[in-house]
Parts: sequence; structure tokens; C-alpha cells
Amino acid sequence: MRFYSLRAAAKINLYLEIIGDRPDGFHELVMIMQSVALADQITVRAIGVDEIRVRCSHFEVPTDQTNLAYQAAALLAQEFPDQIAKFGGVEIAIEKNIPVGAGLAGGSANAAAVLVGLDLLWQLGLSQLELQDLGAKLGSDVPFCLMGGTAIATGRGEELDPLAGLEPLHVVLAKYQSLSVPTPWAYKAYREQFGDRYLNEPQQRQDRQQRVHSGAMVAAISQRDYATLGQELCNDFEKVVLPVHPQVAQLKATMANLGGLGTLMSGSGPTVFTLAETAAQAEEIAVGLRQAIPDEDLGIWPTHLTSTGIRLDP
Ligand code: C5P
Repeated sequence: MRFYSLRAAAKINLYLEIIGDRPDGFHELVMIMQSVALADQITVRAIGVDEIRVRCSHFEVPTDQTNLAYQAAALLAQEFPDQIAKFGGVEIAIEKNIPVGAGLAGGSANAAAVLVGLDLLWQLGLSQLELQDLGAKLGSDVPFCLMGGTAIATGRGEELDPLAGLEPLHVVLAKYQSLSVPTPWAYKAYREQFGDRYLNEPQQRQDRQQRVHSGAMVAAISQRDYATLGQELCNDFEKVVLPVHPQVAQLKATMANLGGLGTLMSGSGPTVFTLAETAAQAEEIAVGLRQAIPDEDLGIWPTHLTSTGIRLDP
């Protein structure tokens, strides 16, 4: 096969708690991550020449070495030089549907799809765990994007424990298209404001993680108690992003008033989502939101939760 086509799912965070600083300069986290059906389409195609090329349908996405999808291919080429010598280089085409700079891990999902696609194209035969270990070198969210579904993520976000799926649920995502929040800024702002509360003792950290493992949200997920799940939604980044971007705070308040199970900002934002029990309810919320905020800059995406991170197209 000379090319593979893959769907790379976005993610939302149902829970995100920043626990403390790590010796590697990153933050210690405990999160509950969830894949959503809104996805980019990635094609990896063998080209005769020994090169990595990236094309993207979205003008804001770089196609050079700063693109995480490029870095994913470069990492595999470096780890497996014989295979690239045998099969040649690759062109990566990215059809963007996931909003950019949104807190939805679009870039990480693209990198995850490239790892899966090149594993096939270059016949590497990597296991899921090997792919996840390589993914962790690219970015903290890449291992989850590879695994997909519903999971508790700890460490930098790369240590994953799968949870029971939430596939019956739907979700409405909303983002002001012209607004993006750089993740490094959000972490820095959080450290500046809340760094004095960080827990840095291993035992304290474990206790905090354990509190989530045995907490109300995980219990609600396993019992399919969606009302409680909606009430337990929580994201520490809201404390720094919402005060700086009142437009996002207003969006969250408007969405919360339209019903659904619960409303939260995803990751470092600025996407806000509302969980819904049915497709009809999600559609109703999307229509209500459009009426409440008729600003063309506001993108609204009704979609559903999914158990799949990366899906290979037939
Ligand atoms: O791993 P990733 O490339 O997604 O991280 C982007 C930035 O977010 C990092 O440079 C770091 O500043 C911050 N980060 C962090 N702690 C994490 C994950 C990310 O401080 N657990």
C-alpha cells in the first residue's frame, strides 16, 4: 500500500487538576480525558524522495518542522533509518476540522495519526505501547490521542488508565475562531497565581491522584450516572483563562443556561463544551447558542463522544 488515510479524533478534558511541578519542568496532572468524534483527516503517502512534506488545508497551521505531525515523521525516520531508506519519504496531508489553538489536542491527534500511518507505511510493526512511548516524546497529549476513548491521565498526561466508555453521550463544542490560548502561557499563569499551593511531596501527589481514581466522577462514569458526571466537571485552567478572557466566561455562562448535563472549558481553552444526553438535545443547544450569540466568529460543533482515537479508513 502506498498511502493510508486516518481519522484523528479531538479530545476534551472532563476533569483537569494541576497538582504541582515536576523535576522535568512540566506540571504533574490528574485528568480525565475523552475522545470526541470531531476529527481531522490525515493521509500519509509514500514519495520517491527521502523527505518529509506536510500539506494542510488550514492557513494557520505551519507545514514546516514546527508542525507536530512533521516531528512525528522525523522521530520515526530517526528511530528507524533503514525503513525510510527502504520505503522512501512521506507526504502528510492534513484536512483540518478540529479548531486550531483550541484546547482540543488537534496537533497531538495529527501526530498520533502520523505515528499509526507510518507504522503501516514503513512496516515497523510497533505495538500500541511502543507507539504511546514514542508519542510521549512528541507531546503530553499524544499517547491519549493514540489510545482514545475515556481515560484517567496522570504524570505529564502520558500515563493512562482506561475507563468505561461514554459513547452514548453527545457534546456541543464552541470556540471563538479568532481567539486561541497558548498552552505554555496558561501553565505559566497558573504557576504564578497558584504555585504556592503546589504539592511536591510524592505521597501528597499520590493521595491527590487517588482522590480522583476513587472519586465521584470515576464512580459516575462506571455507573453511567450522567447527571453526576455533568455536575463533577472541573478544570483548573478556568481559574486563569476565564478572568483574562471574559468573552469565554460569558460563552460558558450562556452555554450552561441552555441546558445539557454540564458545561466546561476544555484543556487550556478557549473551547467550551456542554455534554448532552442525546443528539437532539445537542442540536437544540447548538441552535440556542447560535441565537443567543449571533457572532459569526463563534464556531459551534455538535458531535458525540467516541471510543476511538485514531481510526484507519478502509
Ligand atoms: O507536552 P506539550 O508539548 O503538549 O506541552 C506544551 C507546554 O505545556 C509545555 O511546554 C509546558 O510548558 C506545558 N506543560 C506543562 N505540564 C504538562 C504538560 C504541558 O507544564 N503536564
